[in-house]
Amino acid sequence: MGHRVNVLFSADTIGARNTELAAEIAALNTERLLVVAVLKGSFVFAADLIRSLHSAGLAPEVEFISLSSYRDGTVSSGAVRIVHDIDSDVAGRDVLLVDDILESGRTLAFAKDLMAARGARKVLTCVLLEKPNKRAVRVDADLVGFRCPDLFVVGYGMDVAHAYRELPFVGVVDVGDDGETKPDQGG
Ligand code: IMP
Ligand code: MG
Repeated sequence: MGHRVNVLFSADTIGARNTELAAEIAALNTERLLVVAVLKGSFVFAADLIRSLHSAGLAPEVEFISLSSYRDGTVSSGAVRIVHDIDSDVAGRDVLLVDDILESGRTLAFAKDLMAARGARKVLTCVLLEKPNKRAVRVDADLVGFRCPDLFVVGYGMDVAHAYRELPFVGVVDVGDDGETKPDQGG
């Protein structure tokens, strides 16, 4: 790719925030906590967060759901579909949904409704980033890592055209004058 990525949230900044988020989650006194990471974008965040939860004294189970919102370029278009579902029964359990970005809110609203419809006792939501003023549906996250400027971000699990997930920080691709980045197909 060869584009430079400007750091928005450094690895250290994210790590410190994860510790705080885990303390907030521990204070919620959840029971039989099931962390459900919304793939693909949240996999790095979720992996770090569950280790912070361990340090905060929790022992959650962990599941993964892969959701895809149909996207037109880098803009969310509407429908959300399940690409890969969780295996566990969530009935009666406290579920913590973990996602990378809360933007239109469609992904998180879909996941929340799904867990509630399946009989979860409590559905909590934690997102690494929240982009303000972008909501298409009414949904708020219970826990937010950082408020994010209205820029397309990559790294720490998040991609553009399948690239940059491996970066240990969250950044913005510097496309320069003639550059062009290809949009992701969701996740
Ligand atoms: P929502 O359904 O519009 O809230 O979309 C949230 C999902 O869109 C996130 O889970 C990401 O997968 C994706 N997304 C939104 N903004 C960005 C971005 O800036 N970079 C990478 N992915 C994004
Ligand atoms: Mg996502």
